[in-house]
Amino acid sequence: MRRAAGTILSFRPLPLPFGNEALHPQRREIEKCPPPARTGATDRKTLRSTAKLSGVVNIASGVHAVEHSEDGKAQMKITLEGKVALVTGAGAGIGRGIAQAFSDLGADLVIAEIDPAKCAQLRADFPNAEVIETDVRDRAAVERVRDRTAARFGRLNVLVNNVGHHLNTFKTLDQMEDDEWDAQHDINLRHMFLVTRAMLPLMRKAGPGGSIINLSSIEGFRGCPYNVAYTTFKHAVTGFTRAMALELANDEIRVNLIAPETTDSEQVPLKHIIKPGMEEIANRMLPANRYGRPEDHAGAAVYLATDLSSWVTGSEMFVDGGSHNQNIFKRTPEGRWTVMGVVTGSASAAD
Ligand SMILES: NC(=O)c1ccc[n+]([C@@H]2O[C@H](COP(=O)([O-])OP(=O)(O)OC[C@H]3O[C@@H](n4cnc5c(N)ncnc54)[C@H](O)[C@@H]3O)[C@@H](O)[C@H]2O)c1
Repeated sequence: MRRAAGTILSFRPLPLPFGNEALHPQRREIEKCPPPARTGATDRKTLRSTAKLSGVVNIASGVHAVEHSEDGKAQMKITLEGKVALVTGAGAGIGRGIAQAFSDLGADLVIAEIDPAKCAQLRADFPNAEVIETDVRDRAAVERVRDRTAARFGRLNVLVNNVGHHLNTFKTLDQMEDDEWDAQHDINLRHMFLVTRAMLPLMRKAGPGGSIINLSSIEGFRGCPYNVAYTTFKHAVTGFTRAMALELANDEIRVNLIAPETTDSEQVPLKHIIKPGMEEIANRMLPANRYGRPEDHAGAAVYLATDLSSWVTGSEMFVDGGSHNQNIFKRTPEGRWTVMGVVTGSASAAD
Protein backbone atom coordinates (compact mmCIF):
# COMPACT_ATOMS: atom_id res chain seq x y z
CA MET A 1 0.00 0.00 0.00
CA ARG A 2 1.34 3.45 -0.94
CA ARG A 3 1.06 6.30 1.54
CA ALA A 4 1.30 9.99 0.89
CA ALA A 5 4.36 11.52 2.53
CA GLY A 6 3.57 12.59 6.10
CA THR A 7 0.61 10.25 6.51
CA ILE A 8 0.59 8.63 9.87
CA LEU A 9 -0.46 5.02 9.97
CA SER A 10 -3.03 4.32 12.62
CA PHE A 11 -3.10 1.02 14.40
CA ARG A 12 -6.04 -0.83 15.78
CA PRO A 13 -5.26 -2.99 18.82
CA LEU A 14 -4.74 -6.57 17.71
CA PRO A 15 -7.17 -9.11 19.13
CA LEU A 16 -5.75 -11.15 21.98
CA PRO A 17 -4.52 -14.56 20.90
CA PHE A 18 -6.87 -16.46 23.22
CA GLY A 19 -9.95 -16.33 21.00
CA ASN A 20 -12.90 -14.66 22.68
CA GLU A 21 -11.15 -11.68 24.31
CA ALA A 22 -14.32 -10.43 25.98
CA LEU A 23 -14.33 -13.54 28.14
CA HIS A 24 -10.68 -13.66 29.05
CA PRO A 25 -10.55 -13.19 32.86
CA GLN A 26 -7.12 -11.50 32.97
CA ARG A 27 -8.17 -8.91 30.40
CA ARG A 28 -11.43 -8.32 32.29
CA GLU A 29 -9.56 -7.76 35.58
CA ILE A 30 -6.99 -5.44 34.03
CA GLU A 31 -9.70 -3.34 32.41
CA LYS A 32 -11.46 -2.98 35.75
CA CYS A 33 -8.37 -1.22 37.21
CA PRO A 34 -8.71 2.52 36.60
CA PRO A 35 -5.66 3.89 34.80
CA PRO A 36 -3.68 5.96 37.30
CA ALA A 37 -3.81 9.68 36.55
CA ARG A 38 -0.75 11.05 34.78
CA THR A 39 0.70 13.51 37.22
CA GLY A 40 4.11 13.93 35.69
CA ALA A 41 4.01 16.31 32.79
CA THR A 42 3.11 19.66 34.30
CA ASP A 43 5.24 19.26 37.37
CA ARG A 44 8.17 18.21 35.25
CA LYS A 45 7.90 21.45 33.33
CA THR A 46 7.87 23.49 36.52
CA LEU A 47 10.77 21.58 37.96
CA ARG A 48 12.83 21.98 34.83
CA SER A 49 12.51 25.74 34.94
CA THR A 50 13.41 25.75 38.62
CA ALA A 51 16.46 23.71 37.75
CA LYS A 52 17.53 26.25 35.15
CA LEU A 53 17.21 29.13 37.56
CA SER A 54 19.13 27.50 40.35
CA GLY A 55 21.97 26.29 38.17
CA VAL A 56 21.14 22.67 38.76
CA VAL A 57 22.36 20.54 35.91
CA ASN A 58 20.96 17.60 34.11
CA ILE A 59 18.37 16.35 36.51
CA ALA A 60 14.83 17.65 36.61
CA SER A 61 14.22 17.84 40.34
CA GLY A 62 17.57 19.33 41.18
CA VAL A 63 18.60 16.56 43.51
CA HIS A 64 22.19 16.98 42.57
CA ALA A 65 23.97 20.08 41.49
CA VAL A 66 27.44 20.83 40.30
CA GLU A 67 29.22 23.67 42.01
CA HIS A 68 32.61 25.08 41.13
CA SER A 69 35.11 25.97 43.79
CA GLU A 70 37.46 28.94 43.37
CA ASP A 71 40.14 26.79 41.76
CA GLY A 72 37.56 25.72 39.14
CA LYS A 73 37.16 22.16 40.39
CA ALA A 74 33.66 20.79 40.00
CA GLN A 75 31.93 19.29 43.00
CA MET A 76 28.66 17.47 42.96
CA LYS A 77 26.23 18.31 45.72
CA ILE A 78 23.76 15.58 46.56
CA THR A 79 20.87 16.55 48.77
CA LEU A 80 17.62 15.11 50.03
CA GLU A 81 16.43 18.43 51.38
CA GLY A 82 12.70 18.82 50.93
CA LYS A 83 12.20 15.05 50.71
CA VAL A 84 10.24 13.07 53.29
CA ALA A 85 11.60 9.53 53.70
CA LEU A 86 10.21 6.58 55.66
CA VAL A 87 12.65 3.84 56.65
CA THR A 88 11.26 0.71 58.31
CA GLY A 89 13.42 -1.10 60.86
CA ALA A 90 15.94 1.72 61.15
CA GLY A 91 16.91 0.86 64.72
CA ALA A 92 19.90 -1.25 63.67
CA GLY A 93 22.03 -2.50 60.81
CA ILE A 94 21.33 -1.52 57.22
CA GLY A 95 18.17 0.47 58.04
CA ARG A 96 20.07 2.51 60.59
CA GLY A 97 22.83 3.19 58.03
CA ILE A 98 20.28 4.35 55.47
CA ALA A 99 18.49 6.58 58.01
CA GLN A 100 21.82 8.15 58.96
CA ALA A 101 22.72 8.92 55.34
CA PHE A 102 19.27 10.30 54.54
CA SER A 103 19.38 12.49 57.65
CA ASP A 104 22.90 13.72 56.81
CA LEU A 105 21.62 14.74 53.36
CA GLY A 106 18.77 16.75 54.84
CA ALA A 107 15.75 14.46 54.42
CA ASP A 108 12.83 14.67 56.81
CA LEU A 109 12.83 11.22 58.39
CA VAL A 110 10.00 8.97 59.48
CA ILE A 111 11.10 5.76 61.17
CA ALA A 112 8.94 2.72 61.91
CA GLU A 113 10.82 0.52 64.38
CA ILE A 114 9.50 -2.30 66.57
CA ASP A 115 11.93 -2.14 69.48
CA PRO A 116 11.08 0.51 72.13
CA ALA A 117 14.69 0.84 73.34
CA LYS A 118 15.89 1.44 69.79
CA CYS A 119 13.10 3.98 69.30
CA ALA A 120 14.36 5.88 72.34
CA GLN A 121 17.90 5.85 70.94
CA LEU A 122 16.68 6.96 67.52
CA ARG A 123 14.79 9.89 69.09
CA ALA A 124 18.00 10.93 70.83
CA ASP A 125 20.10 10.57 67.67
CA PHE A 126 17.58 12.11 65.23
CA PRO A 127 15.67 14.69 67.28
CA ASN A 128 13.82 16.02 64.23
CA ALA A 129 12.68 12.61 63.01
CA GLU A 130 9.21 11.17 63.51
CA VAL A 131 10.11 7.90 65.25
CA ILE A 132 7.09 5.62 65.61
CA GLU A 133 7.15 2.37 67.55
CA THR A 134 5.66 0.02 65.00
CA ASP A 135 5.42 -3.63 64.09
CA VAL A 136 5.24 -3.40 60.30
CA ARG A 137 3.50 -6.79 60.20
CA ASP A 138 0.49 -5.20 61.89
CA ARG A 139 -1.88 -3.45 59.51
CA ALA A 140 -3.38 -1.11 62.15
CA ALA A 141 0.10 -0.07 63.31
CA VAL A 142 1.15 0.62 59.71
CA GLU A 143 -1.93 2.78 59.22
CA ARG A 144 -0.93 4.77 62.30
CA VAL A 145 2.45 5.42 60.66
CA ARG A 146 0.63 6.63 57.55
CA ASP A 147 -1.60 8.94 59.61
CA ARG A 148 1.27 10.43 61.60
CA THR A 149 3.29 10.98 58.43
CA ALA A 150 0.30 12.69 56.84
CA ALA A 151 -0.32 14.85 59.90
CA ARG A 152 3.29 16.01 60.19
CA PHE A 153 4.50 16.16 56.59
CA GLY A 154 1.43 15.72 54.38
CA ARG A 155 3.32 13.61 51.86
CA LEU A 156 6.00 10.95 51.37
CA ASN A 157 8.74 11.02 48.73
CA VAL A 158 10.84 7.98 49.59
CA LEU A 159 9.87 4.64 51.15
CA VAL A 160 12.52 2.13 52.23
CA ASN A 161 10.98 -1.27 52.99
CA ASN A 162 13.98 -2.44 54.98
CA VAL A 163 12.57 -4.93 57.52
CA GLY A 164 13.45 -8.56 56.87
CA HIS A 165 14.94 -11.46 58.83
CA HIS A 166 16.23 -15.01 58.37
CA LEU A 167 14.65 -15.82 61.78
CA ASN A 168 17.35 -18.40 62.48
CA THR A 169 15.16 -21.11 60.94
CA PHE A 170 18.11 -23.02 59.59
CA LYS A 171 16.52 -26.39 58.92
CA THR A 172 15.42 -28.52 56.01
CA LEU A 173 11.99 -28.06 54.50
CA ASP A 174 10.65 -31.29 55.97
CA GLN A 175 11.60 -30.07 59.45
CA MET A 176 9.84 -26.75 58.99
CA GLU A 177 6.56 -26.08 60.79
CA ASP A 178 3.63 -24.23 59.25
CA ASP A 179 3.96 -21.29 61.63
CA GLU A 180 7.67 -20.96 60.81
CA TRP A 181 6.84 -20.69 57.10
CA ASP A 182 4.14 -18.09 57.85
CA ALA A 183 6.52 -16.11 60.07
CA GLN A 184 9.03 -15.94 57.21
CA HIS A 185 6.31 -14.67 54.90
CA ASP A 186 5.20 -12.02 57.40
CA ILE A 187 8.65 -10.60 58.09
CA ASN A 188 10.10 -10.78 54.58
CA LEU A 189 7.23 -10.10 52.20
CA ARG A 190 3.77 -9.37 53.60
CA HIS A 191 4.78 -6.16 55.39
CA MET A 192 6.05 -4.75 52.07
CA PHE A 193 2.51 -5.11 50.77
CA LEU A 194 0.99 -3.58 53.93
CA VAL A 195 3.41 -0.63 54.15
CA THR A 196 3.51 0.14 50.43
CA ARG A 197 -0.26 0.00 50.06
CA ALA A 198 -0.75 2.28 53.07
CA MET A 199 1.82 4.84 51.91
CA LEU A 200 0.85 5.09 48.23
CA PRO A 201 -1.68 7.92 48.67
CA LEU A 202 0.99 9.99 50.43
CA MET A 203 3.57 9.18 47.76
CA ARG A 204 1.15 10.17 45.01
CA LYS A 205 0.49 13.39 46.90
CA ALA A 206 4.21 14.15 46.82
CA GLY A 207 4.04 14.06 43.02
CA PRO A 208 6.47 12.65 40.47
CA GLY A 209 9.98 11.64 41.44
CA GLY A 210 9.08 9.29 44.30
CA SER A 211 11.18 6.24 45.04
CA ILE A 212 10.42 2.92 46.73
CA ILE A 213 13.43 0.85 47.76
CA ASN A 214 12.90 -2.75 48.86
CA LEU A 215 15.56 -4.64 50.79
CA SER A 216 15.88 -8.09 49.29
CA SER A 217 18.95 -10.31 49.66
CA ILE A 218 21.50 -12.06 47.55
CA GLU A 219 19.45 -15.11 48.60
CA GLY A 220 16.69 -13.67 46.43
CA PHE A 221 18.87 -14.54 43.44
CA ARG A 222 20.35 -17.93 44.30
CA GLY A 223 19.29 -21.11 46.01
CA CYS A 224 20.00 -21.08 49.75
CA PRO A 225 19.60 -24.46 51.39
CA TYR A 226 18.34 -24.82 54.98
CA ASN A 227 16.11 -21.78 54.76
CA VAL A 228 13.90 -22.40 51.75
CA ALA A 229 11.22 -20.05 53.10
CA TYR A 230 13.60 -17.07 53.42
CA THR A 231 14.94 -17.77 49.94
CA THR A 232 11.43 -18.06 48.54
CA PHE A 233 10.13 -14.79 49.99
CA LYS A 234 13.28 -12.86 49.09
CA HIS A 235 12.83 -14.11 45.50
CA ALA A 236 9.26 -12.82 45.72
CA VAL A 237 10.55 -9.32 46.57
CA THR A 238 11.84 -9.22 42.98
CA GLY A 239 8.37 -9.93 41.61
CA PHE A 240 6.84 -7.35 43.93
CA THR A 241 9.41 -4.77 42.86
CA ARG A 242 9.08 -5.40 39.13
CA ALA A 243 5.28 -5.45 39.07
CA MET A 244 5.03 -2.34 41.28
CA ALA A 245 7.50 -0.50 39.03
CA LEU A 246 5.02 -0.90 36.18
CA GLU A 247 1.94 -0.15 38.26
CA LEU A 248 3.47 3.10 39.51
CA ALA A 249 5.09 4.18 36.24
CA ASN A 250 2.29 6.62 35.39
CA ASP A 251 2.75 8.24 38.80
CA GLU A 252 6.48 8.57 38.08
CA ILE A 253 7.28 6.69 41.26
CA ARG A 254 10.23 4.37 40.76
CA VAL A 255 10.52 0.99 42.49
CA ASN A 256 13.84 -0.84 42.85
CA LEU A 257 15.49 -3.31 45.17
CA ILE A 258 18.81 -3.68 46.92
CA ALA A 259 20.21 -7.19 47.26
CA PRO A 260 22.82 -7.34 50.04
CA GLU A 261 25.40 -10.06 50.56
CA THR A 262 26.44 -10.76 54.18
CA THR A 263 26.64 -7.43 55.96
CA ASP A 264 27.67 -6.68 59.52
CA SER A 265 24.48 -5.92 61.44
CA GLU A 266 22.60 -6.91 64.55
CA GLN A 267 21.02 -9.78 62.66
CA VAL A 268 24.29 -10.87 61.07
CA PRO A 269 27.04 -9.96 63.56
CA LEU A 270 30.23 -10.81 61.71
CA LYS A 271 32.34 -11.09 64.86
CA HIS A 272 30.17 -14.00 66.01
CA ILE A 273 29.76 -15.59 62.59
CA ILE A 274 33.39 -15.69 61.43
CA LYS A 275 35.67 -17.89 63.51
CA PRO A 276 38.41 -15.90 65.27
CA GLY A 277 41.58 -16.05 63.18
CA MET A 278 39.64 -16.81 59.99
CA GLU A 279 38.79 -13.20 59.14
CA GLU A 280 41.31 -12.85 56.32
CA ILE A 281 40.30 -16.08 54.62
CA ALA A 282 36.63 -15.21 55.05
CA ASN A 283 37.11 -11.76 53.56
CA ARG A 284 38.91 -13.18 50.53
CA MET A 285 35.88 -15.29 49.69
CA LEU A 286 34.41 -12.14 48.16
CA PRO A 287 35.89 -10.32 45.14
CA ALA A 288 35.78 -7.01 47.03
CA ASN A 289 37.91 -8.57 49.81
CA ARG A 290 35.52 -7.84 52.65
CA TYR A 291 31.99 -8.33 53.88
CA GLY A 292 29.42 -5.56 53.81
CA ARG A 293 28.86 -2.60 56.09
CA PRO A 294 25.54 -0.78 56.53
CA GLU A 295 27.01 2.30 54.85
CA ASP A 296 27.57 0.31 51.63
CA HIS A 297 23.79 -0.04 51.36
CA ALA A 298 23.24 3.53 52.45
CA GLY A 299 25.19 4.67 49.38
CA ALA A 300 23.01 2.55 47.12
CA ALA A 301 19.85 3.82 48.82
CA VAL A 302 20.93 7.45 48.34
CA TYR A 303 21.46 6.75 44.64
CA LEU A 304 18.03 5.13 44.34
CA ALA A 305 16.30 7.80 46.43
CA THR A 306 17.58 10.72 44.39
CA ASP A 307 17.20 11.61 40.74
CA LEU A 308 20.72 10.35 40.16
CA SER A 309 18.76 7.18 39.32
CA SER A 310 15.87 8.94 37.57
CA TRP A 311 15.86 6.41 34.69
CA VAL A 312 16.16 3.35 36.91
CA THR A 313 13.02 1.47 37.86
CA GLY A 314 12.07 -2.17 38.31
CA SER A 315 15.72 -3.04 38.68
CA GLU A 316 17.92 -4.94 41.12
CA MET A 317 21.01 -3.43 42.66
CA PHE A 318 23.46 -6.01 43.94
CA VAL A 319 25.38 -4.55 46.86
CA ASP A 320 27.34 -7.68 47.45
CA GLY A 321 31.08 -7.18 47.08
CA GLY A 322 30.86 -8.99 43.74
CA SER A 323 29.55 -12.24 45.17
CA HIS A 324 26.65 -12.63 42.72
CA ASN A 325 29.04 -12.40 39.80
CA GLN A 326 31.63 -14.72 41.31
CA ASN A 327 29.31 -17.72 41.19
CA ILE A 328 31.23 -20.98 41.81
CA PHE A 329 34.70 -19.36 41.64
CA LYS A 330 36.84 -19.26 44.77
CA ARG A 331 40.27 -17.78 45.38
CA THR A 332 43.31 -19.71 46.42
CA PRO A 333 45.60 -18.20 49.09
CA GLU A 334 47.83 -17.10 46.17
CA GLY A 335 44.94 -15.09 44.76
CA ARG A 336 44.11 -17.26 41.74
CA TRP A 337 40.49 -17.88 40.86
CA THR A 338 39.49 -21.52 40.69
CA VAL A 339 36.42 -23.70 40.88
CA MET A 340 38.47 -25.96 43.19
CA GLY A 341 39.17 -23.36 45.84
CA VAL A 342 39.04 -25.70 48.82
CA VAL A 343 41.79 -28.14 47.85
CA THR A 344 44.70 -25.97 48.93
CA GLY A 345 45.51 -27.77 52.15
CA SER A 346 45.21 -24.52 54.11
CA ALA A 347 42.36 -23.64 56.41
CA SER A 348 39.59 -23.48 53.86
CA ALA A 349 36.13 -21.99 53.59
CA ALA A 350 34.79 -25.45 54.27
CA ASP A 351 36.28 -25.55 57.81
N1 LIG B 1 22.71 -8.15 57.17
C1 LIG B 1 22.80 -9.00 56.15
O1 LIG B 1 23.80 -9.73 55.98
C2 LIG B 1 21.70 -9.04 55.12
C3 LIG B 1 21.91 -9.86 53.99
C4 LIG B 1 20.91 -9.93 53.04
C5 LIG B 1 19.74 -9.20 53.20
N2 LIG B 1 19.56 -8.43 54.31
C6 LIG B 1 18.29 -7.70 54.44
O2 LIG B 1 18.52 -6.35 54.77
C7 LIG B 1 17.49 -5.87 55.63
C8 LIG B 1 18.10 -5.31 56.91
O3 LIG B 1 18.85 -6.35 57.52
P1 LIG B 1 19.78 -6.07 58.81
O4 LIG B 1 20.73 -7.20 58.87
O5 LIG B 1 20.27 -4.69 58.81
O6 LIG B 1 18.69 -6.27 59.97
P2 LIG B 1 18.85 -6.10 61.56
O7 LIG B 1 18.11 -7.27 62.14
O8 LIG B 1 20.24 -5.89 61.95
O9 LIG B 1 18.00 -4.77 61.85
C9 LIG B 1 16.62 -4.78 61.57
C10 LIG B 1 15.91 -3.69 62.35
O10 LIG B 1 14.50 -3.86 62.10
C11 LIG B 1 13.78 -3.88 63.31
N3 LIG B 1 12.59 -4.73 63.13
C12 LIG B 1 12.54 -6.08 63.15
N4 LIG B 1 11.30 -6.50 62.97
C13 LIG B 1 10.52 -5.40 62.82
C14 LIG B 1 9.13 -5.20 62.61
N5 LIG B 1 8.29 -6.24 62.52
N6 LIG B 1 8.67 -3.94 62.51
C15 LIG B 1 9.53 -2.88 62.61
N7 LIG B 1 10.83 -3.01 62.83
C16 LIG B 1 11.34 -4.28 62.92
C17 LIG B 1 14.76 -4.44 64.32
O11 LIG B 1 14.40 -4.10 65.65
C18 LIG B 1 16.06 -3.79 63.87
O12 LIG B 1 16.20 -2.51 64.41
C19 LIG B 1 16.55 -7.05 55.83
O13 LIG B 1 15.50 -7.01 54.89
C20 LIG B 1 17.44 -8.25 55.56
O14 LIG B 1 16.73 -9.39 55.13
C21 LIG B 1 20.52 -8.35 55.28
